[in-house]
Amino acid sequence: MSEALDLQGRHVVLGLSGGIACYKSAELVRELQRHGATVQVVMSEAAAQFITPVTMQALSNRPVFSSQWDARQHNNMAHIELSREADALLVAPASADFIAKLAQGRGDDLLSLLCLARPIDRLPLLLAPAMNREMWAHPATQRNAAQVVADGAMLLGPAAGDQACGEVGDGRMLEATELCEELVAHLQPKLLAGQRVLITAGPTFEAIDPVRGITNLSSGKMGFAIARAAAESGAEVTLVAGPVALTTPRHVRRIDVQSALQMHEAVMPLAGQHEVFVATAAVADWRVQGCSEHKLKKDGSGRVPNFEMIENPDILASVARLPKPPYCVGFAAESHDLAKHAREKRLRKGIPLIVGNLGPATFGQDHNALLLIDGQGERELPHAGKLALARELVREIAARLPKP
Ligand code: C5P
Repeated sequence: MSEALDLQGRHVVLGLSGGIACYKSAELVRELQRHGATVQVVMSEAAAQFITPVTMQALSNRPVFSSQWDARQHNNMAHIELSREADALLVAPASADFIAKLAQGRGDDLLSLLCLARPIDRLPLLLAPAMNREMWAHPATQRNAAQVVADGAMLLGPAAGDQACGEVGDGRMLEATELCEELVAHLQPKLLAGQRVLITAGPTFEAIDPVRGITNLSSGKMGFAIARAAAESGAEVTLVAGPVALTTPRHVRRIDVQSALQMHEAVMPLAGQHEVFVATAAVADWRVQGCSEHKLKKDGSGRVPNFEMIENPDILASVARLPKPPYCVGFAAESHDLAKHAREKRLRKGIPLIVGNLGPATFGQDHNALLLIDGQGERELPHAGKLALARELVREIAARLPKP
């Protein structure tokens, strides 16, 4: 789900060290800008062998800096000046040699100097390693990577996959969209650090026979947005998803299920190991009793199949009834009298917080409006993107959790 302007007002210094992944950094500039950031590019001499400063200047709309002797800064101290207005220092690609340099605290070119001279308490340093898999696996690189992390940097990736050298393995730089998502996440307040959050999302599919079933119009977008927002806030997130084709948010553990019974089976053993449970799934209320083993056939007589329905277990209510339940958040999708129905549902399910929304109008949309109801009262979260609402809901949940 794209959420524009997550980086509005943020200034990113994007450093490039030498590596073929530099070609992805051009797209990264655009991606950061699409999210509202301004980007100052700094390139090592080696990076300029892979992509030209002209390209990076044209894309970033700012002069590119490469040398610590560059006299364009008024005080001739580019290594200080460039980092002082930045909100993040992202080096992508970060080569094996560059990480080694950082691990030793060396500063023999502008980019390494800039990293060394950054205000360590204020300015995050994010590194996206990119190199051949043998170089990444080498004990020296692993030692250096561990050292820079111990010194306060954060590694983004690397990913596994096809490499430019023709080999396959760990060492690919993350894609521009992934790096941008990581940066956005890094800048979110860590309100759920140390908390484990379990979320259900999407519709369920109740089989009639091997090829047919009953489902609903839930897209799973709200639940997936909450999973992303919770992970961005530092939580360990497990997402139990019904049949949806959405991309799993980064750093979220996903368990795919089809039916309400499977969702119930997946959730119940996990619920007690989580501090928060958010039930966004549109769980089918009923399933077909005795689902046919074979495809039901028309027999030409005009008769229609008769199937019995049986009620599904209420997952949320079952979790809320556990002896030591997690903090339970339910959803109420209503077509009318939202507040009244949501209030009643909260009490019926025995949960501290319920989130009402106008069901049919918001199913499948990227936007929504929420009504939060707890024992104290009500609060409206006005119409906004689902990710923005999810972040707001995470703030509301975090504020209600018992203080450690
Ligand atoms: O009862 P109703 O389906 O309207 O309640 C909605 C809330 O209950 C949602 O949070 C939904 O995820 C949850 N639910 C559930 N298991 C069911 C039915 C609903 O967890 N079988």
